[in-house]
Amino acid sequence: MSVAGDKALLLLDGVHTDIGRYRILHGVNLTARRGRVTALLGRNGAGKTTTLRTIMGLWKARAGRIIFDGQSIAAMDTPQIARLGIAYVPENMGIFGKLTVRENMLLATAPDGFAEPYLDRVLQSFPALKMKWDSAAGSLSGGQKQMLAIGRAIIEPRRLLLVDEPTKGLSPAMVDQLVEALARLKSEQATILLVEQNFRVAEAIGDDVAVMDEGRVIHTGDMATLAADEALQHRLLGLRMADGL
Ligand SMILES: Nc1ncnc2c1ncn2[C@@H]1O[C@H](COP(=O)(O)OP(=O)(O)O)[C@@H](O)[C@H]1O
Ligand SMILES: [Mg+2]
Repeated sequence: MSVAGDKALLLLDGVHTDIGRYRILHGVNLTARRGRVTALLGRNGAGKTTTLRTIMGLWKARAGRIIFDGQSIAAMDTPQIARLGIAYVPENMGIFGKLTVRENMLLATAPDGFAEPYLDRVLQSFPALKMKWDSAAGSLSGGQKQMLAIGRAIIEPRRLLLVDEPTKGLSPAMVDQLVEALARLKSEQATILLVEQNFRVAEAIGDDVAVMDEGRVIHTGDMATLAADEALQHRLLGLRMADGL
């Protein structure tokens, strides 16, 4: 195994996933290194969300290995995988609009309620949630909802965070706030696998990068190298991503 493999908290090796009778992932090789942010990029339909769902056991890998901290998780069910400390913030965020921010957060905690240090950390990272604590989640702005979704994911001790396109549809100001919050998480040595369509965001937060196309990872490396190489961006991602849209 390479140096990257030694430090990998998560390793996917030749992962194939079918959805119904469709072959979606065709041998995904991917690592998420400890204490680093790995940006998972690629065009629409490349298989990014399917990869995150396969890690969480929401789709079952037909072949290949998924190793988390040295342990095979490919055959585990989703609650088991979550209990190992992997949190997933899906694209649709999965928050409950009629419940308050506080109630949404409580649903994500152990039955005995909030662990104070973790709650403090969330409210420090996302001050807007403190202000909206007793408001219905449905009344939050798009960016605030995304913060709630991420806040829920880190309200318990976690070892790996999977986040799917957190900036999608957000205003530039909200994107900046979210980048700040993710940067703060990153400075606390969180290990994050971040799917992102906004190249500027991926560039700001990513340490490592993996690019997917047609159900495979077609490029891995460090983010700084890709960020400095426009020709490579263009080749791997096409115009849209390179333009930072
Ligand atoms: N529930 C599903 N049923 C059938 N096909 C799906 C389903 N989910 C995703 N796909 C297909 O799998 C491919 C990869 O999708 P996805 O993982 O969502 O891509 P990405 O997140 O990179 O945009 C696409 O061709 C998509 O149409
Ligand atoms: Mg997706």
